[in-house]
Amino acid sequence: MTAQELRNKFLDFFKSKGHVVIPSASLVPENDPTVLFTTAGMHPLVPFLLGQPHPAGNRLVNFQKCLRTDDIDEVGDSRHNTFFEMLGNWSLGDYFKKEAIEWSFEFLTSKDWLGLDPNLLFVSVFEGDKDAPRDDESIAIWREVFKKSGIDAEIGERIFMYPKKKNWWGPAGLTGPCGPCSEMFYFTGIEHDPRYGEICHINCDCGRYLEIWNDVFMEYEKKPDGSFEPLEQKNVDTGMGLERITHILQKTASIYETDLFWPIIQKAEELLGKLYQDNIHSFRIVADHLRASVFLIADGVSPSNIERGYILRRLIRRAIRHWYNINISLSGLIAELAKTIIDQYGHIYPALNDKRDRIWLELTQESEKFSKTIGRGIKEFDRMIERQKSISGIDAFNLYQTYGFPLEMTMELAREKNIAINKNEFSNEFKKHQELSRAGSEQKFKGGLADHSEITARYHTATHLLHQALRDVLGHHVFQKGSNITAERMRFDFSHPQKMTLEEIKKTEDAVNEKIKENLNVRSEVKTINEAKELGAIGLFEGKYGENVSVYSIGDYSKEICGGPHIKYTGEIGKFRIIKEEAVSAGVRRIKAVIE
Ligand code: SER
Repeated sequence: MTAQELRNKFLDFFKSKGHVVIPSASLVPENDPTVLFTTAGMHPLVPFLLGQPHPAGNRLVNFQKCLRTDDIDEVGDSRHNTFFEMLGNWSLGDYFKKEAIEWSFEFLTSKDWLGLDPNLLFVSVFEGDKDAPRDDESIAIWREVFKKSGIDAEIGERIFMYPKKKNWWGPAGLTGPCGPCSEMFYFTGIEHDPRYGEICHINCDCGRYLEIWNDVFMEYEKKPDGSFEPLEQKNVDTGMGLERITHILQKTASIYETDLFWPIIQKAEELLGKLYQDNIHSFRIVADHLRASVFLIADGVSPSNIERGYILRRLIRRAIRHWYNINISLSGLIAELAKTIIDQYGHIYPALNDKRDRIWLELTQESEKFSKTIGRGIKEFDRMIERQKSISGIDAFNLYQTYGFPLEMTMELAREKNIAINKNEFSNEFKKHQELSRAGSEQKFKGGLADHSEITARYHTATHLLHQALRDVLGHHVFQKGSNITAERMRFDFSHPQKMTLEEIKKTEDAVNEKIKENLNVRSEVKTINEAKELGAIGLFEGKYGENVSVYSIGDYSKEICGGPHIKYTGEIGKFRIIKEEAVSAGVRRIKAVIE
């Protein structure tokens, strides 16, 4: 059975039980600032789980793109990955435990559906605590369904009880809908690995039992004071990882040999001229991280040093590092692999096709940048080892701070050389640095333009170049509508009636970088508003600056009224990069850009 057949079977099964198919939401949550990414199928449905009526009804089914990076270090084993698809069915105040469990069992074991052997199926339920009682109802239902298959489901043999840590699905943020859950595990038969503990159990991480599906009974809401209040509407939220169930059905050695990953791995073998079996770990990381990155870019994320952009950057860079690890003499081809991913998934997730160019551009730019960083970082790492035979947490921080070399990579290189790194020391250093930059941004918050830090000045000058470049590329209807600068990025709003094309974005970016390269002098003169107008200066004239204004000229290229601060020469700006172009309101566009 192919993964696509599996997706369809799941939808068909639940359609036959009265469910309506809903589309997958974006990986970037629309209205939930408490999480960076959609990490489960229920995220986009939170308002409906809390009682808002869903336009498609109260029985829903779908497959949802998800991203979880908490297990990133496990990626490369047989079953962990970052991006995954989650098959899910929902009851919004409609059916509850009985139907949910019966249908899960039917879908998994019936010959008409997946036909898995019920003898190899094990389940867990919530053991109860001060907030909620033991889930006896689910135990009774499981016993009943197993009995119909001739299996006597004893507690401690087939049904196991666990506390909240394992059998409670909580909200991603601090509050929200939650409740006890019941998980299904499939016995894979692989030998227990004692590294995971002396005795194996269904929740052991060794891989002998694989968690395949989770039925959550959302009957509580966690309140800000930490209490759990019964919800008026009792919901069901289930989630089955597509990669894992495909792996079971296709009887592969890991999720990576399923048809969800195999075409990507084969293409990587071809591009790299190396065999998967000779470096399984790195091939898996490349396939997983690149697939995740392609989906993230398609959902509008760009690599950067903060939040979502940072996770994306980390995924791309880690993929590239393992790409090099497989074949050090190759570079620049990783973006080629993205094409295979787009071809493979584009018919299911059309955003991938629509964003083909953007995906290519982001991956290529990031690869180029990272090749330089990685080269410098590895050299410095080797030098440190040679010099002092060890790397301290402070050294690791310096590699990060000075060369942009991520801690995870320092850790990986160190692991390869059997060197321990003091993570606490790194964290302390990191914290100190954060406190300093936080103090910096508080300062900025207080002072606005009174913040004359160097990075701000570089951004201000870059903003003038961007303004002029946009007028050159798009036309003289372009005027600044707003601007906001932080130490990490600039945001520039301007009048323009339509979305910029990729070509226009590239031209604008190139024009700014061209002027940076020319290292133009930045001068300021005090003029009256009328004089400034006569000089052809652009800027906000609405009397905001009083009678006298400062006119900043950048070579002969730009003349603009502004309060500063600016740098002396454009060469000090660094490399300018547009990371996003989007609408703000009718006729107003926004560009987000960074300098690196
Ligand atoms: N929210 C649950 C999970 O992600 C079931 O969908 O496991």
